[in-house]
Amino acid sequence: MAILSTTWWNSARGEPDGGRLYAIHCAACHGDRGGGGIGVPLSLPDFLSSVTDEYLFLTIRHGRPGRIMPAFRHLSEQQTWAIVGHIRAWASGETRLAPEGTPGDPQRGRDIFARHCARCHGPLGKGGTGTGVNFTRLHDQPVVAPGLNNPGFLAAASDRIIRTTLLKGRRGTPMQSAAKMGLSEQDVDDVVSFIRSFEKSFENSAVDPEADADPALMVTSPLPFAETVKRLKQAISARRQRIIREHPLDDGLTGARESGRSRHLAIYFGNIRHLNTLLAIDPRIGIFLPSRITVMEGEDGKVTVTAVNPLRFRNLFNNARLEHTSREMHELYVAILGEISE
Ligand code: HEC
Ligand code: HEC
Repeated sequence: MAILSTTWWNSARGEPDGGRLYAIHCAACHGDRGGGGIGVPLSLPDFLSSVTDEYLFLTIRHGRPGRIMPAFRHLSEQQTWAIVGHIRAWASGETRLAPEGTPGDPQRGRDIFARHCARCHGPLGKGGTGTGVNFTRLHDQPVVAPGLNNPGFLAAASDRIIRTTLLKGRRGTPMQSAAKMGLSEQDVDDVVSFIRSFEKSFENSAVDPEADADPALMVTSPLPFAETVKRLKQAISARRQRIIREHPLDDGLTGARESGRSRHLAIYFGNIRHLNTLLAIDPRIGIFLPSRITVMEGEDGKVTVTAVNPLRFRNLFNNARLEHTSREMHELYVAILGEISE
């Protein structure tokens, strides 16, 4: 992939502020100064000396689909380079990649991977599980092992970067050097070829069909406001969801209610089992829970009912493990909205 702009280091005043962008978009997971947290550390010398600026740029752009690391496609190239510059400034040393290897034997690499790597990176390189911030992390592992069988990782990392990472290891993390793991240079080349072979399995996988799913589900109710609310609550209860609370959104603030011109009510509901499943998969989903459906009556008397489209969750979070649950929630919402839309 061609990278057009490499001029972040010339950034004159008025250009994007990498430190600020980092604080907004990255610090919550990677730490204020790159020390790590939910996300792997970014400031370690072994990391920064093993990767190129292009690797950092592409990692930010693509994220790691199916993992927690989001894709930041909405940042401009300039902003992304500014963040790269900010990360770079944490280490004084320059990037020193190991020499190119020779093409290895992926079959042999597969066996070596199973023996030496799968324990942390998962059987097929899918990556360690959990978010790293709660009990889902293995206690002896302060950093969750990244997914290697991952389109985002493989798009960003050249063979040479993977080779360098193996030869050098990453001091300060559980990732040891090949020498410490008892691997020869030939073993390293074989494993690199095996990791590269994962790419074949992405070729036929279609682009995420829901990437452009509407952010909201919305229907116009044929019933008046109060009737719509009543019908919705029945539909929610009929599906073994508990109504947690109802919250008038513009109560008292605009006086709209007194004037009778518009009404706006949020109905919160949920199912404890569902809630816990979702939170275990990804605690960040908490910002969307409990489920919420809002009913609004406009000045023209038209009543609309809206909900966040759950199919958007997993795109937002880049977490394929949310797929099943978000589909279930989508069906639930569609069924509930369906009861007032005929
Ligand atoms: C004890 C657990 C453990 C073992 C065993 C292990 N790794 Fe790692 N590996 C990690 C962790 C943790 C990281 C993240 C390090 C960091 O934060 O920079 C990592 C990082 C990597 C990376 C860089 C990935 C990225 O996104 O930057 C590669 C490539 C890698 N490991 C390959 C391997 C291979 C190949 C093997 C087997 C030969 C192996 N690892 C064995 C835990 C492990
Ligand atoms: C919601 C948490 C989260 C946010 C926000 C986030 N990351 Fe990450 N990031 C991760 C996780 C987790 C990984 C490890 C990927 C894996 O587990 O496969 C990662 C991996 C990375 C890597 C690869 C590290 C390596 O060892 O190769 C880089 C680089 C990175 N993130 C940079 C950033 C930058 C820059 C931002 C802000 C623009 C950012 N991340 C925002 C969670 C996050």
